[in-house]
Amino acid sequence: MHIPLLALGLLSRLVASIPISESIAHSTILARAGDLRSEYDYIIVGGGTAGLTVADRLTENGRYSVLVLERGIFRNSTFVTTVGMGFFGILDPENLYNITSLPQPNLNGRTIAVLAGNLLGGSSGVNGMQVVRGQKEDYDRWGEYFGKRSEWSWDGLLPYFKKAWNFHPPSPAITNQFGIKYDTRFWGNSSKVHASFPNFNYPFLKTELAAFGDIPGIKFSPDSGAGETGAYWHPSSIDPSTILRSFARPGHWDGIEAARSNYHTLTGQRVLNVVFQGKKATGVRFTSADATTQAGARTVRAKKEVIIAAGTIHTPQILQASGVGPKALLQQAGINLVADLPGVGSNFQDQSFNVGGSFNMTKFNAWPFQDALFNNATFMAEARAEFEANRTGPLSVASGNAGAWIPLPVVSPSRWREIATRYENQNPAAYLPAGTDKTVVAGYKAQILANAKAMRSRDSASMNWFLRGSYQEGALVYLHPASRGTVFLDPANPFFGPPRVDYRALTNPIDVDVLVEFTHFVRRFFRESRLKNYDPVELLPGTQAQTAQQITDWIKQTMIPSCFHPIGTASMLPLSLGGVVDEKLRVYGVQGLSVVDASVIPDSPGSYTQQTVYAIAEKAADLIKARS
Ligand SMILES: Cc1cc2nc3c(=O)[nH]c(=O)nc-3n(C[C@H](O)[C@H](O)[C@H](O)COP(=O)(O)OP(=O)(O)OC[C@H]3O[C@@H](n4cnc5c(N)ncnc54)[C@H](O)[C@@H]3O)c2cc1C
Ligand SMILES: *[C@@H]1O[C@H](CO)[C@@H](O)[C@H](O)[C@H]1NC(C)=O
Ligand SMILES: *[C@@H]1O[C@H](CO)[C@@H](O)[C@H](O)[C@H]1NC(C)=O
Ligand SMILES: *[C@@H]1O[C@H](CO)[C@@H](O)[C@H](O)[C@H]1NC(C)=O
Ligand SMILES: *[C@@H]1O[C@H](CO)[C@@H](O)[C@H](O)[C@H]1NC(C)=O
Ligand SMILES: *[C@@H]1O[C@H](CO)[C@@H](O)[C@H](O)[C@H]1NC(C)=O
Ligand SMILES: *[C@@H]1O[C@H](CO)[C@@H](O)[C@H](O)[C@H]1NC(C)=O
Repeated sequence: MHIPLLALGLLSRLVASIPISESIAHSTILARAGDLRSEYDYIIVGGGTAGLTVADRLTENGRYSVLVLERGIFRNSTFVTTVGMGFFGILDPENLYNITSLPQPNLNGRTIAVLAGNLLGGSSGVNGMQVVRGQKEDYDRWGEYFGKRSEWSWDGLLPYFKKAWNFHPPSPAITNQFGIKYDTRFWGNSSKVHASFPNFNYPFLKTELAAFGDIPGIKFSPDSGAGETGAYWHPSSIDPSTILRSFARPGHWDGIEAARSNYHTLTGQRVLNVVFQGKKATGVRFTSADATTQAGARTVRAKKEVIIAAGTIHTPQILQASGVGPKALLQQAGINLVADLPGVGSNFQDQSFNVGGSFNMTKFNAWPFQDALFNNATFMAEARAEFEANRTGPLSVASGNAGAWIPLPVVSPSRWREIATRYENQNPAAYLPAGTDKTVVAGYKAQILANAKAMRSRDSASMNWFLRGSYQEGALVYLHPASRGTVFLDPANPFFGPPRVDYRALTNPIDVDVLVEFTHFVRRFFRESRLKNYDPVELLPGTQAQTAQQITDWIKQTMIPSCFHPIGTASMLPLSLGGVVDEKLRVYGVQGLSVVDASVIPDSPGSYTQQTVYAIAEKAADLIKARS
């Protein structure tokens, strides 16, 4: 709490959910729902990564009135702001939704924790701060679903990547010591969302990155933002002037310099549904975040547009509860149909976390290394003292800044052709839930063909190996899983029940084939690269796992189908391919309603998602202003 505020006698104006100093309230934070105007030009549902970015851009010229309704509250605890190790954000359960996935039959019935940020700033306030961009082909692929002339392409998005991020090069000392390559032509320097490098790296990272050069086909990209595959250093979303997390809230909300009377924010409010007059979205209905019934719900009107930005997990629930979604589901839930849009909640994807294999380098001799933070109390105490005194050292590193982004033909020189061929010849309906609408099936087939092409390409990454700079390595991210899941509201409790999240992990057998190849690659890497000099010993899955079946059994026990990069539940695809929004991000079949968040991404970029979400939001703001 802000003690000076209490002294000013302002307590009576605050509700418990708004512990915030007025000095940063450049968007007027309404203390109670009763303070709302009856209508705004734009209502943004969800003050997260994309929502706050769009709100900032729509309010900056003063012409439009904007209301952001956010279910979480303003949170700025050290759990949110601390950068060290990159995972403090998820250690405070208050920062997160408490959603558990449906049991996954192909993972021996395991359930998965579905993490998403429940605070002003959304998931950018809890994420691992890794700032990476996909490959050029990823963004071109999205446009190609609409035909060749789409503005959704690498060239079309590059200006928005530049607008979205303020890039700070690594210090000359670090650049020289580690041979970091960067090229400012891929970046901008005006955003208040920062991308910067720590002034400390674990020394072994340099050896590890170089080791990828020992594997034929792996390049060293000129910059993490060049849209290429290969091994490279990348920045973190850290403000270099404070060494605190840089995210959507400080970047696009407290970062606003002059007060904007046209911009209202109301936190601690759950939007229940969009209100329609015929097919025209005219507003939203919302209630307090802790309410459990609809009694007391209020309505606020939108003159121009309602913009849904509630994230991949909640956006489909809100659309479905509004009557926009698959007819059969809405009937079952007793929701009046406004537009039968079968794609809402389908095409759900996430990137999986896989211990491709864990090797221990028994002749490892570098110092220091990341594990020392966890197993050497003296080292941790020194790191803490250094950070407190100078904001430098090991605790200025978040989740890491180096990795390799590897195409399938490099991962598996012997099997990639056969896997890609089998993939593109699949009958798509066989791998989707029974009864899936034919447009969604057609969209899946289009994605299979496009992603099989990406599998064959040396300019698209299939696997990401993220590096720790330590003696045990082998943690991987599978960037383009072929399986598709669903996110549907709970028909028994459509407004208040958590969405039913089903990853449908490994339902497409191509994923098993690819993941088995990942394990073979990890073994080959330790056998063939310079890391063999450190006498690596295989710990997991262990040398007894040799056949594809043995490796598969181990994958089923260990793979986690989420790296918290969910996408696709309101995909930007043609309507005939099960799309939910068009290329201007407008929801099909209705007027005055758009979606701007990770849910519009039709298939995963070959990277983590935050950098792309900010760029999409910057572009969306221009699209929305252009039609205002
Ligand atoms: C734990 C974790 C680690 C991650 N690590 C990385 C990383 O290191 N690098 C990377 O690139 N990406 C990472 N990501 C992914 C990245 O952060 C997300 O892709 C991105 O932030 C998503 O932005 P969004 O706008 O789609 O959704 P969000 O930022 O989640 O915003 C959605 C907002 O809507 C609000 N909301 C939901 N329902 C309602 C409702 N009914 N009414 C009102 N408001 C509502 C939510 O509270 C939230 O604020 C990570 C994500 C998580 C969760
Ligand atoms: C958030 O916390 C940081 C670190 O304590 C502080 O410097 C900053 O001013 C806070 N921001 C706001 C808006 O309160
Ligand atoms: C999640 O659970 C924690 C307690 O474990 C609680 O503090 C938090 O408010 C819950 N979040 C939501 C969105 O319900
Ligand atoms: C910011 O970018 C512009 C355009 O590339 C450049 O002219 C300017 O020097 C940059 N400013 C800083 C501080 O780097
Ligand atoms: C891993 O290797 C280190 C040396 O780098 C050694 O100290 C440690 O005991 C080994 N751990 C296991 C589980 O083999
Ligand atoms: C633990 O860390 C201290 C301080 O950096 C270092 O001097 C010591 O050698 C480390 N101990 C081990 C066992 O590595
Ligand atoms: C902080 O930096 C100064 C100047 O480089 C250095 O002398 C000092 O030892 C550092 N403090 C700690 C605790 O590391």
